[in-house]
Amino acid sequence: MSDYRDPTQPTAARVADLLGRLTLAEKIAQMTQPEKYSVTPDEVAALGMGSVLSGGGGNPKPNTPATWAAMVSEYDEAARRSRLGIPLLYGVDAVHGHNNVHGATIFPHTISLGAAGDPELARRVARATALETAATGVRWDFAPMVSVVQDPRWGRTYEAFGDDTAAVTALSRAYLLGLQDAGDGRGLASPHAVLGTPKHYLGDGATLWGTSKMEMLGLRFHIDQGDMRVDEATLRAKYLPPYAAAVEAGALCVMPSFSSWNGVKMHAHRYLLTDVLKGEMGLRGFLVSDWQAMDQIDPDYATAIATSINAGLDMNMVPYDWRRFIATLMAAIESGAVPLSRIDDAVGRILTVKFEMGLFEQRPGDLPPLSILGAAEHRALAREAAARGMVLLHNDGGALPIGGGPIFVAGEAADNIGLQCGGWTIKWQGEVTRDLTVGTTILDGLREVAPPDTAITYSPTADFPGDARAAVGLLFVHELPYAEGLGDREDLNLPAEQVALIDKLRARCERLVVVLITGRPLLIAEHLGRAEAWVAAWLPGSEGGAVADVLFGRVPFTGRLPLAWPG
Ligand code: BGC
Ligand code: BGC
Repeated sequence: MSDYRDPTQPTAARVADLLGRLTLAEKIAQMTQPEKYSVTPDEVAALGMGSVLSGGGGNPKPNTPATWAAMVSEYDEAARRSRLGIPLLYGVDAVHGHNNVHGATIFPHTISLGAAGDPELARRVARATALETAATGVRWDFAPMVSVVQDPRWGRTYEAFGDDTAAVTALSRAYLLGLQDAGDGRGLASPHAVLGTPKHYLGDGATLWGTSKMEMLGLRFHIDQGDMRVDEATLRAKYLPPYAAAVEAGALCVMPSFSSWNGVKMHAHRYLLTDVLKGEMGLRGFLVSDWQAMDQIDPDYATAIATSINAGLDMNMVPYDWRRFIATLMAAIESGAVPLSRIDDAVGRILTVKFEMGLFEQRPGDLPPLSILGAAEHRALAREAAARGMVLLHNDGGALPIGGGPIFVAGEAADNIGLQCGGWTIKWQGEVTRDLTVGTTILDGLREVAPPDTAITYSPTADFPGDARAAVGLLFVHELPYAEGLGDREDLNLPAEQVALIDKLRARCERLVVVLITGRPLLIAEHLGRAEAWVAAWLPGSEGGAVADVLFGRVPFTGRLPLAWPG
């Protein structure tokens, strides 16, 4: 007789044994993922909840690595106190480092890794991210985003590796391996490994402008969560390869997209979820819904839930009203709208992953030390990665690398950690706060890297005293931070107030260098001739020294455009 607690038993036997012991209510609880603000540890213990997540900004107060670890372990211990003691999967969006945590290393956003174009670099960044994430007890990351971007007006462009299927496939596969393989020969069972989640299946980067019906905070989405209209051959050729490669590389969890294909929501798409992804591609693990995404399938909640579970969703990121979800799924099973075999399949998949991750055997002391968050070697890696993602767009007259001073620096993004990190940093939408988290501003980096005796004067608004002219003007233009559909933007022109800064600084320097601190290409063609050099630095993250390294020629420009630059 096998026992699910016996680690010498094969996973399939442990799953079968445990499935046989679970009540229907406990099975449904394994399929339920509330957000941490909506559920208490005691509720997790009482029900045997399968998972909890922190959404963007789902932070403890105060927000420190230690309070994070305490919060996650409180939930996990609660789950281990439940009747059968099934450990919890705690999930977060660690999409450029463990980005909710104050003091974690913030890596450049994914688009920059796309520009660097080096799978080994992507793997190393993911490995460091996994270590910082696992150190706080979180063994599950909703990343990588493997989208093939078609329209830079999309607010998630910076979360993607680019617009080329082959490049996205290679980079996202390497990223997944970095998360899931700690190099200790234990695979996902290593407490230093983190379960990855290729997302958002399928074709989330291919939706058409104007097809989104989503509204939030009084704002309309335009392309995020919209509709993709392509034939199946195109779908398979352009958007499926990153998932095929990920499953082949060991992905055990995939997140379907809010978006639709020819009007059918992915969360209701049985053919793509069950036949293609689980059947044809052979995904052994489970599908987690996106945030409240099942609810969008049908105005009738019961219909929405039954349709989605029957289509192949295994876990519901509810995230708020989990009581309603549990009651609704229970009723659907009792009425026969959802067959019990589907529930057993879903729970079996979730438990398989928990066993393969070694969660039942994991002890707190097995995790990486908390001191790994923001460790010097990770900050050095973030600096290397951000430097290698920088792209020289235009260099006329040898303005770069910068030879010497004096230098006038302008633009708010030169001295603001919040702006250089962008969305998904401490908060979901990020924030324009100079000291949003621990890091080095670009200006600090310039002062560190500049040759000794270089006079560097900074004015965010380009108001420099007197009428002296500098040898070099360095202007940092930016987009305000955003995330998801709230960053959908029809007009990609440089904002007028940033153009005004070009005029102001142009008049005060011999050679002008404009650096874009943006999540996507902006339209610069009509301004190009006004500066000697233009640089795309993307959203470099917490280590602003990277930008200085490249501008001063300590590190050569090697980044290439990861997506077509419009205009
Ligand atoms: C996003 C996902 C994310 C989830 C949890 C959703 O709004 O689309 O990418 O993983 O929230 O934060
Ligand atoms: C959460 C995010 C989530 C978003 C989706 C936010 O409130 O913090 O994690 O992706 O809602 O609607």
